[in-house]
Amino acid sequence: MRKYLIAGNWKMNKDAAEGESLIADIALAVGKQTDVDVVVCPPYTGLESASKSVSDNEIELGAQNMHPAAAGAYTGEVAASMLRHLHVSYVILGHSERRTLFGETDAFINEKVLAAFENNLKPILCVGETIEEREADKTISVVTTQLNDGLKGVTAENAENLVIAYEPVWAIGTGKTATPEMAQEVHQKIREILTDLFGADAANGIQILYGGSMKPENADDLLAQADIDGGLIGGASLKAQSFIQLVESAISKS
Ligand code: 13P
Repeated sequence: MRKYLIAGNWKMNKDAAEGESLIADIALAVGKQTDVDVVVCPPYTGLESASKSVSDNEIELGAQNMHPAAAGAYTGEVAASMLRHLHVSYVILGHSERRTLFGETDAFINEKVLAAFENNLKPILCVGETIEEREADKTISVVTTQLNDGLKGVTAENAENLVIAYEPVWAIGTGKTATPEMAQEVHQKIREILTDLFGADAANGIQILYGGSMKPENADDLLAQADIDGGLIGGASLKAQSFIQLVESAISKS
């Protein structure tokens, strides 16, 4: 059985002290349970203090991005091994904000996915369509390309540590959520693609998260879908109360 995973993507919010305080509140409520995987992804500058905040509980740490190279002349970038030194376990890759605002391509994201596995980081690979693509009936073809190209060279063994996040771009930060049925349809298709790539056993073990205006009010219905294994949460991860409620919603279904 797949565990639920609730991950908070703080994006460019929270300085180190604010992050420590948020993690302390989350830990108090859901830091000791192990039924649901709980991950927080602060900005780089908050990772060191956050790694201390999670050292005596079950919360795990994720980064929001990284560079595929091991080291070198890449001003402003951070390597996988640097994240590992801060006890980071997960890394969000290919977020739509990286794709749109920073021009990241599937090929570049693929380099990062491979570098993450080489460094024992679990990639959370984000895929999803824009509103124009959905209206042109291209959702499945867009997601298929993002998965096939983003996962080139990944083995079935690697796939045990792979997480996928389906984030329809039009639902991110807009208050518009995909209906549970719309999300399930894409999640099911994603699992079929993962089955083609890695075989049924591996694909059935991969957590596929939903992201896009997920909040306590809509989480129960989304998490009740067969192929929705958790959430990648933006806005609602910035307040302890809403994030804890999302984790509790997943616990109640575990
Ligand atoms: P919101 O939950 O704010 O819509 O953001 C979703 C997201 O982009 C998570 O990575």
